[in-house]
Amino acid sequence: MITEKEGIFYLNTKNTTYVFGVTKFKHLEQIYYGTKLTNEVEVGAVRYKQSAQTGTTVMYDASDENYSMDTLPLEWSGCGRGDYRCNPLEAKMPDDTFITDFTFQKYEIIKGNVPMQTLPSAYGTEHETQTLIVTLFDEVQNVTLKLYYSVYEACDVITRRVVMTNHAVKAVSIRKIQSMMIDLKYRNYDMVTFDGGWIREAHKHTKEVTYGMIVNSSTTGSSSNRHNPGFVLAEHTATQDHGWVYGFNLVYSGNHYSCVERSNRDLIRVSIGINPHCFEWQLKQDESFETPEAVMTFSPHGFNGMSHQFHDFVNHHIIRGDWKGKDRPILINNWESDFFDFHESGLLKLASQASKLGIELFVLDDGWFGERNHDKAGLGDYQVNHKKLPHGLIGLSKKVKAMGMDFGLWFEPEMINEDSELYRNHPEYAVTVPGRKAVKGRNQLVLDLCKKEVRQYIIDQVGTIIDEAELSYVKWDMNRHISEMYSEALLVQGEFSHRYIMGLYEILQSIFGTRPHVLLESCASGGNRFDLGMLCFSPQIWVSDDTDPIERLKIQEGLSYLYPQSTFGAHVSMAPHQQTLRNTPLSTRFNVAAFGCLGFELDLKQLSPVEKKEVRDQIIFYKRYRELLQYGIFSRHEQLRENQKSWQVTSRNARTALVGFYQTLGQAAVGMDQLIVKELQQDAIYAVSTRPQNLYLDRFGGLIKHAMPIKINPKGVILRTANQVYSLKDCVETYQASGRILEAGICLNDQFVGTGYHNNMRMLGDYGSNIYLIEQKIN
Ligand code: GLA
Repeated sequence: MITEKEGIFYLNTKNTTYVFGVTKFKHLEQIYYGTKLTNEVEVGAVRYKQSAQTGTTVMYDASDENYSMDTLPLEWSGCGRGDYRCNPLEAKMPDDTFITDFTFQKYEIIKGNVPMQTLPSAYGTEHETQTLIVTLFDEVQNVTLKLYYSVYEACDVITRRVVMTNHAVKAVSIRKIQSMMIDLKYRNYDMVTFDGGWIREAHKHTKEVTYGMIVNSSTTGSSSNRHNPGFVLAEHTATQDHGWVYGFNLVYSGNHYSCVERSNRDLIRVSIGINPHCFEWQLKQDESFETPEAVMTFSPHGFNGMSHQFHDFVNHHIIRGDWKGKDRPILINNWESDFFDFHESGLLKLASQASKLGIELFVLDDGWFGERNHDKAGLGDYQVNHKKLPHGLIGLSKKVKAMGMDFGLWFEPEMINEDSELYRNHPEYAVTVPGRKAVKGRNQLVLDLCKKEVRQYIIDQVGTIIDEAELSYVKWDMNRHISEMYSEALLVQGEFSHRYIMGLYEILQSIFGTRPHVLLESCASGGNRFDLGMLCFSPQIWVSDDTDPIERLKIQEGLSYLYPQSTFGAHVSMAPHQQTLRNTPLSTRFNVAAFGCLGFELDLKQLSPVEKKEVRDQIIFYKRYRELLQYGIFSRHEQLRENQKSWQVTSRNARTALVGFYQTLGQAAVGMDQLIVKELQQDAIYAVSTRPQNLYLDRFGGLIKHAMPIKINPKGVILRTANQVYSLKDCVETYQASGRILEAGICLNDQFVGTGYHNNMRMLGDYGSNIYLIEQKIN
């Protein structure tokens, strides 16, 4: 996988090659990152020639007037030595300057990877992974940089990180240190980022990579819902299935920073790492600093090609422990049905209903402890509220388990309300800065995870409850951005944000590393911390507080570029929706949530008998295809109409696929729709059928007279009653076709256009959708 020949390093994965070499002045020159090379001779041709001197550039050494740091494609760059592009390192060095010039000293190739001391990182066996460690040294400063390259062969991913060690007597003050940088040769690239905010996470945005810098960063203390750390560099002409696409991500949950810069010489510099915002790290003699691990992949097969590689990488080398590759349970969470207002008796009714419908895990959300009757009090006090739960958590847990379900609980362990026993006893546990009144988010302050005693308090509290209540699942929430980045435990306050995240990882490792059977679902007001760092502990993450399926189409699709569907917490909730007031069919709510780890968040007690039957059928369907939906190959389809979207999951043997077909706003009298199914065996014959779903009478309003054989009042009691117990069957289509024909697209029945109704008509309207099942026919 990794070889070295005459000062050139070849990092090969199954389908890609990454090449860099040592220059005559011992800098690391980036040579190639693309499809797999089979012949080392090619490297000479692809290397940058530097055959002319460039005006106004700074010559590195008088012996070669063409050699300039500014025009070379590099793997790492110095500061103050003639490279004026975005620099990966800014530090006050032992000689009190910011000048660095790291040159090659030695290298080592080892099997497997090297676990980090302070941060989580990807892992792999000695057969799956190799690591190249290149040591660079700045002899003036007496400081070493080790560049780690780990190659994950089967999934075409390479990770990079840096460890800086100070050998000098005087300390280094690091202000910026990126995990990696690479200079790519120019193509017409776009940078694709996934941005948003609360209830609108990970919306995809595309920016042309033109001269100057594009920065993707967060400063909120977490990886943030504003800008996910993962991003993509794609040829402007790339489509879902064609074209060159590079993906980048970071195994980190704190402030991140990425910069894509097109230089005046048309090199594209990409760097990614910790955000230098308010960052300062003191590195004393013989101390080391390790950066988070950066992740890269390349595919010539468009955005889906890149996503498939990232998905495999996350499923095989990030998610760990008992939940690796394991089916995620279908859960009911009581938050949207109860908020803070519940009692054991009501919870048990909800649980009983859930278990009858086939749900496997009951999750009690916020409000079960202390005086937590609203969001102004109680955070920090994880003593059960006996008014709501007279038999305690243990009593509730036992009763839920007796119904055949597992039991899980919500916590928000990193936070504290001023109105709490914990704050009254330990105000010093909260993050505040002397002389200023702290600003609050959701009425709460942040606990100071830089303090050992605070970390221990959380570990003890959460750990004890998990054991006593025999929890199988924990929802770990975090509902505000961080402010007043100050800890009295620190001498250098610029270390706060990074030490907070290191403290969080220590807590998570200590609680869940020793209890691998517990399924941890991380949440931060939804997807405010959806990143590879959290995924090292938490196999699934609550995608968004927004459970409106039409909004989820954008959110889940955005995340799907970087993360597999096995990591998406996705629930069916109430309609009209609590945040958008949008009224969507129960079928669409399921058809979107099914492409993730399914849960329900609505009050099952309020469903009509016919809705309950539909939910039961949804659960049966999901269980049958759960492995495919959670771990199948997920692909986005090219959007053929602006109001339609389509997703597909395919089994590894290409025998079974499911396609979700979604319509946002209906349009009048459009032409036929096509069902396109890719990635199948071309000559095999497949049976295609629509997943049966309900069409509720009240969706028709006054039009019902056209759909029913008898005339009834659309607002009358008969229809209202009928709607409880009866529904029409939505159009089911069945076909047989080869993989080749399915890829070309089969024509579906027409949509309803107001010229009459029959049950072969597709009734999508606004927010309608279907899931199609495609199964190979075995003769
Ligand atoms: C956050 C979460 C929600 C819910 C509430 C409880 O908003 O994202 O899912 O748990 O907190 O307060």
